[in-house]
Amino acid sequence: MRMPPHNPHDISRHDLDDILGTISQEVRQRFGEGKVADYIPSLAHVPKDRFGMALATPDGKIHEVGHARERFSIQSVSKVHTLTLALAAIGDDLWKRVDREPSGDPFNSLVQLEYEKGIPRNPFMNAGALISADVILSHYDDPEGTLLGFMRARSGNPEVGTDEVVAKSERESGYRNVALANFIRSFKNLDNDVQDVLDFYYLQCSLSMDCVDLARSVQYLADAGHCESSGEQVTTAEGATRINSVMMTAGTYDAAGDFAFYVGLPAKSGVGGGIVAVVPHVMGLCVWSPGLDEKGNSQLGRYALHRFTRMTGLSVF
Ligand code: DON
Repeated sequence: MRMPPHNPHDISRHDLDDILGTISQEVRQRFGEGKVADYIPSLAHVPKDRFGMALATPDGKIHEVGHARERFSIQSVSKVHTLTLALAAIGDDLWKRVDREPSGDPFNSLVQLEYEKGIPRNPFMNAGALISADVILSHYDDPEGTLLGFMRARSGNPEVGTDEVVAKSERESGYRNVALANFIRSFKNLDNDVQDVLDFYYLQCSLSMDCVDLARSVQYLADAGHCESSGEQVTTAEGATRINSVMMTAGTYDAAGDFAFYVGLPAKSGVGGGIVAVVPHVMGLCVWSPGLDEKGNSQLGRYALHRFTRMTGLSVF
């Protein structure tokens, strides 16, 4: 007789700490793989022998391993949070200014913008994140304070802050971002001063957080928009579903296909080596290991997420 299928969302049947321990041991044997993001000078000296992972479930429980309490530069992971703020401000009108299609191109690519008349392919490429930044600047009285408050409330950590050294380093080396912002502005798809948009974008990228903070910060996407840390409804259930779907198709840029193949979770990476992921209805996760693959995603972070979904059966596929 065929057994009824198990409930894939029932995580009580797993020893999550044991699974994290196994993954950590495997990853440690591979320390040294990948290359840190030296195109941002202040990130060039981050040691590669770091690995942390944290899981945040909607009941407030945290499971963690390794360097899960060591802060790092969250970089593009912040694009998930600024997308949430931009959608809260203008709703579906956002999609008139940025598309929600995978790009198949690197995160800092300019090429499609010319053909597509200044409408970025998705909110997770740098070009698309500049649109979210512009919307936030136009619609919140205190944009920086709003972002910081949002990250502190989502993570439940009032000490979350930005790293001025990283922001300055990006301001001094962000030639492609300057080009992107000016190009988008030439199509009249930025309302604010180009430098103000860039400064806000550098600020969000320079947020310094650890795996536990970040796993908590995306837990609302696993619980129909409800944030356990603050008790707030951050977005609607439909909003959470939509953000997760864009993370799945575009959150890891031109590696989104490979992530679906090997990991099978909505995810968003940053060149600081962090990756957040969501198991819809189950948990928010974060992994961190600074060595990047050629697409700019944490190499060992991706391996850890692959092992996690295979050991737990929690891939959405
Ligand atoms: O603008 C940049 O290039 C960086 N501040 C962020 C890029 C990033 O994190 C891409 N993610 N993998």
